[in-house]
Amino acid sequence: MINIYLNLFYSEKIKLDKIQIFDTTLRDGEQVPGCKLNKNQKIFLAKQLNNLGVDIIEAGFPVSSPGDFESVNEISKQIQGPIICGLSRAVKKDIDIAAEALKPAKRKRIHTGIGTSDTHIKYKFNSTREKIIERGVSAVKYAKKYIHDVEFYAEDAGRTDNIFLAKVCEAMINAGATVLNIPDTTGYCLPEEYGNKIKFLVENVPSIHKATISCHCHNDLGLATANSISAVVNGARQIECTINGIGERAGNTSLEEVVMIMKQHRTLGFKTDINSELLSKTSMMVSESMGMVVQANKAIVGSNAFSHSSGIHQDGVIKNRETYEIINPKDVGVDTSSIVLTARSGRAALAYRVKSIGVNLSKDQLDLVYKTFLGYADKKKEIIDTDIPQILKASGIS
Ligand code: KIV
Ligand code: ZN
Repeated sequence: MINIYLNLFYSEKIKLDKIQIFDTTLRDGEQVPGCKLNKNQKIFLAKQLNNLGVDIIEAGFPVSSPGDFESVNEISKQIQGPIICGLSRAVKKDIDIAAEALKPAKRKRIHTGIGTSDTHIKYKFNSTREKIIERGVSAVKYAKKYIHDVEFYAEDAGRTDNIFLAKVCEAMINAGATVLNIPDTTGYCLPEEYGNKIKFLVENVPSIHKATISCHCHNDLGLATANSISAVVNGARQIECTINGIGERAGNTSLEEVVMIMKQHRTLGFKTDINSELLSKTSMMVSESMGMVVQANKAIVGSNAFSHSSGIHQDGVIKNRETYEIINPKDVGVDTSSIVLTARSGRAALAYRVKSIGVNLSKDQLDLVYKTFLGYADKKKEIIDTDIPQILKASGIS
């Protein structure tokens, strides 16, 4: 309740900056081994991402396979509203094919780029910093022939020297890039370090006001969400993320996490166009389509995110949900918090669940039933509703 009042207060008093949500579930997310989607599954999820309110859908990497070309092409025909984006390397053929796949889209973007860290320049490209800038500039200029909206990614920007990165960004803006993606490709940066990198670009790229800075964080050290928030605090205005945080290796920034952080902490001064009540449903749709189970303790969308099992917490939640919950489950599309009965549960939780099947117990009866319950609970991991009549019967209550 307090949160609701604070949020109303801040949304009226503070001008909130809109953060663009760039969803890459269908591209970076789909790179997870075993999670490949077919065309129909991609269209099905793209429709849901549209309903959810994302600003940009990165629909795929069209040059990678004929199937991905077709998926991007079909999404471009069917989805109106968000910008449809296709990935390419800084290679003419990739850009030609991405532009072709995106042709039917009402609003479209080519996402092209090249590695900028010394490690990438030396080992991937056997090249030099100067030549990498030249390749980036020609890719951006080439993509501009097809589409006005061109996003440039400086792959491995997380480990790229900031002074060189600023040079890269200035050159790409002058070549026509509308968005500069600063990926922490290897998930290496610390939140302060990544935030400072964004701040450095804001302060040291002369033409930065002509482009949007985008953050794209990987989760190798479990910092993708923290790094993305640090990026927007320091001047980024687009977050690249995936539903359930899926993606290469340890995954990408989780869409549901960054959206709910900005919603719950209005004092940060940001808003998104995401309809948060669709988060839980979207998470399930992605999980089912990809055959990838969401861990139970995953923030926002895990099955335990609104479950309470210890006696102390259950007693508090039954008295007032806000004692142990900072998010109203309804805000993310979950009907209600759940009180799970285990051997760690207390009398309040047991009485609550017994009452929910229509039985009111006196204090003495509850003491009796609680004793029987503990015997059952020590043998089973969880006591479910269908166990309760048996426990009541064994306690002499029918
Ligand atoms: O992580 C990364 O650097 C990427 C780029 C291709 C944008 O996914
Ligand atoms: Zn990535």
